[in-house]
Amino acid sequence: MDSKVGGGIAAAHRNISRLGLGTVQFGFNYGINNARGQVPYDEVLRILEFGAAQGVTFLDTSRAYGASEETLGRAMEEARLKDACMVCTKLDLPPGYASLDPAALRQTVLDGFRRSQDALRLDHIPAYLLHSPEYRTVQQGLVWQVLLEQVEAGSIGLLGVSIARGPDEALQCLAEPTVRILQIPYNVFDQRWRRTGVLDACLAQGVALVNRSTYLQGLMLMDPQVAHIKVPASVPFLQRLLDLARQAGIPLKELALRYALSCDALSCTLIGVDSLSQFEENIELFRLGALDDALVQQMEQMFADTPVELVNPALWGQPYNAPKSM
Ligand SMILES: NC(=O)c1ccc[n+]([C@@H]2O[C@H](COP(=O)([O-])OP(=O)(O)OC[C@H]3O[C@@H](n4cnc5c(N)ncnc54)[C@H](OP(=O)(O)O)[C@@H]3O)[C@@H](O)[C@H]2O)c1
Repeated sequence: MDSKVGGGIAAAHRNISRLGLGTVQFGFNYGINNARGQVPYDEVLRILEFGAAQGVTFLDTSRAYGASEETLGRAMEEARLKDACMVCTKLDLPPGYASLDPAALRQTVLDGFRRSQDALRLDHIPAYLLHSPEYRTVQQGLVWQVLLEQVEAGSIGLLGVSIARGPDEALQCLAEPTVRILQIPYNVFDQRWRRTGVLDACLAQGVALVNRSTYLQGLMLMDPQVAHIKVPASVPFLQRLLDLARQAGIPLKELALRYALSCDALSCTLIGVDSLSQFEENIELFRLGALDDALVQQMEQMFADTPVELVNPALWGQPYNAPKSM
């Protein structure tokens, strides 16, 4: 394997590192298991410097992640990493956006984009996603059209969509040839993307596919007894994964990350971290690479029936620290 983490990338998307960093944790106190709170600025700086040295250059953020964009902008400038990093941020529109008149909607989209440019201190945004798939079709595709103009002007590299609910949304986006990047919540518990053909379609169409939820917001790494208090439905599935990890002789954290790395359709696997030490550990695990095909198949069969209420955090029905739009 290449000594740099950015080595094993899909040919069509050479600038996307195979391991990416989720940065909502830099913007506010996030996650079902978060005991530490928002990552302090000095530590963000060290995380970015360490990541760049290891080839982890794809950084996922959003206007909606509190101070995340501003923190990244300041840190990338201070550490002189603006050229090395590939930032992916997202458009969030205010409530009632769909009933704005076309000129006002156009201005709202441009204002959001410019606020991201300013916060990130970047003229060119390498990857830009709609934070909600509904934005793409509103007012005969006006939002999308405004952003395509930014692609043509050279202000956006890859334009795409962050998928919230499920494969149907992704398949609708894949019918639009100007969609060049998708972000999906994907992990071993969630076999919907493979079953419905989303993974194959991204590969066939050369669409960059990025996954979040590699550790299901940290839930997958929790002791089942604690998980029982937070998301009771998760317990039998966590127990099943723990049993498999024990049987395979692979620690659960390693198994979950290497499962995502075993998916050829993914250009990038995101992991959010609460500390530099978690990041260092994830990079060490990343270096172990993909799992054996037989083990991957066994895992896929084992979790073919996971209910959507477990794999979609928005349906957990528990108070946690993510904004409603996520
Ligand atoms: N597009 C969207 O709608 C959307 C929605 C959510 C997130 N995201 C993006 O995805 C990124 C990742 O978020 P996610 O929800 O998918 O979370 P995740 O990556 O599945 O899990 C991240 C959490 O796992 C725990 N963790 C990570 N490495 C660890 C290690 N080595 N040891 C122990 N625990 C570890 C940490 O939580 P604890 O320490 O708290 O347990 C961390 O906050 C976010 O930063 C954000 O950029 C996008």
